[in-house]
Amino acid sequence: MKIRLHQFLSKTGAFPSKRDAKDAVWAGDVTVNGQVMKNISFQFNPRTKPVAYRGEVLTIPEDHITLALHKPAGYVCSRINKQERSFGKTPVFDLLPEHLSQRDKDRMVTVGRLDEATTGLLLMTTDGQLVHQITAPDQHVAKVYLVHTASAIADADIQNLSEGVTIELEDNGKVSTYRTQPANVQRLDENGVQITLHEGKKRQVRRMLASLGHDVVDLHRAAVGELWLEDMGLGEGDCMDMSHLNLLTLVGETA
Ligand code: URA
Repeated sequence: MKIRLHQFLSKTGAFPSKRDAKDAVWAGDVTVNGQVMKNISFQFNPRTKPVAYRGEVLTIPEDHITLALHKPAGYVCSRINKQERSFGKTPVFDLLPEHLSQRDKDRMVTVGRLDEATTGLLLMTTDGQLVHQITAPDQHVAKVYLVHTASAIADADIQNLSEGVTIELEDNGKVSTYRTQPANVQRLDENGVQITLHEGKKRQVRRMLASLGHDVVDLHRAAVGELWLEDMGLGEGDCMDMSHLNLLTLVGETA
């Protein structure tokens, strides 16, 4: 896409004011594609023609997009190929708002993953650094799950889940055992509990319940940090734009 030179320069953040950006052009300090350009209204495509100020290449910082999605069941959190799609898999990326450009849709990644059958709050972003800041194990961001099982959950099970249980983890076909960290577990009803985890092993909640002989029939993520899905008023499959918020301060808090 084409942009005028003075607009491009202002967006780089390299000049204190729009006037300074224009002065730099008029002074002959700016080159486009290696040639001095003194016309501030020159239109060009910055993807194909690099701009330099006094020999230093300038770029526009990426505008990142971050969304909160109310994930329905039946969507996977990975990019899929045609064959997987023909087998009935559907990626969460199909739920991205239509107004996003294809380029932005392609840049989107999920912040962590929810299983295909799991519903609830899923953050999606173009900002890889944000993903790392939220999902890195040492960040200990709280994730709150509402879990319902086929069989009744005993008080002793709640005690065990809170203190930590031993689950099996699988990495590239290699199976190992893992003791889960203490978790906050509250009873919801006879077959249901609310579990708050500060870690995120693959299928952790399902495996924790399975270790006690329970089959999970419904798993819903209600919150990430202080971000509660029910406060957002999002219907299943709907997204909310969070790009303008400082998400780190919201999810950094423990729920
Ligand atoms: N734990 C699970 O077992 N599945 C999820 O989707 C999320 C957490």
